[in-house]
Amino acid sequence: MAGKILVVYATKFGSTKEVAENIGEVIKAKNIPVDVRKVSSVKDLSKYSAIIFGTPIRMGKPISEAMSFIKKYETGLNAVPVAFFSVGLYMKEDTPDTREKAIQCMEPVLELVTKPVSIGLFGGKIDYNTMPVILRWMFLKDKSGQLSEGDWRNWESITSWIEEILPELRREVRG
Ligand SMILES: Cc1cc2nc3c(=O)[nH]c(=O)nc-3n(C[C@H](O)[C@H](O)[C@H](O)COP(=O)(O)O)c2cc1C
Repeated sequence: MAGKILVVYATKFGSTKEVAENIGEVIKAKNIPVDVRKVSSVKDLSKYSAIIFGTPIRMGKPISEAMSFIKKYETGLNAVPVAFFSVGLYMKEDTPDTREKAIQCMEPVLELVTKPVSIGLFGGKIDYNTMPVILRWMFLKDKSGQLSEGDWRNWESITSWIEEILPELRREVRG
């Protein structure tokens, strides 16, 4: 029987945590047992029948905490249905080009955990107040407009994504 789902996330400034929490709420509202945890607080995957894993994209790849988690739990992640999601500025707009760029950033994860049920690609958030001073200064200096403040997380598409893939995550794990 399908059991508890783990939503596990890495984050630098909290926006991926909020996406993970939102996903957790959608699952909970369907009376499905779920835990939402930061990568550093997960010690054991064995009690979960499915896993949803999220990371921000930074410099074109998942953040290092995310990759450490994937490397450490590669075997466990390959043993149950998993879904990935990423949060980043490439997905400010949802087009075939931005999707291609965003999916490429997830390659390091896909090399280790090869058959996810789905990969959700979501827009991220820039809030200068959450950044260390040096980073804020670098972002403010950028004149391209690419690094301006904003929140591009589309809660509707995040909710539809999780609702769409839940049946697949809940399917029985085959030996
Ligand atoms: C230094 C830095 C580099 C970033 N590089 C990328 C990138 O290469 N591609 C991308 O799509 N987003 C990039 N972003 C945007 C973040 O992924 C986005 O702000 C995300 O919402 C941050 O997640 P967090 O709040 O969970 O840390 C970058 C952000 C920062 C601060």
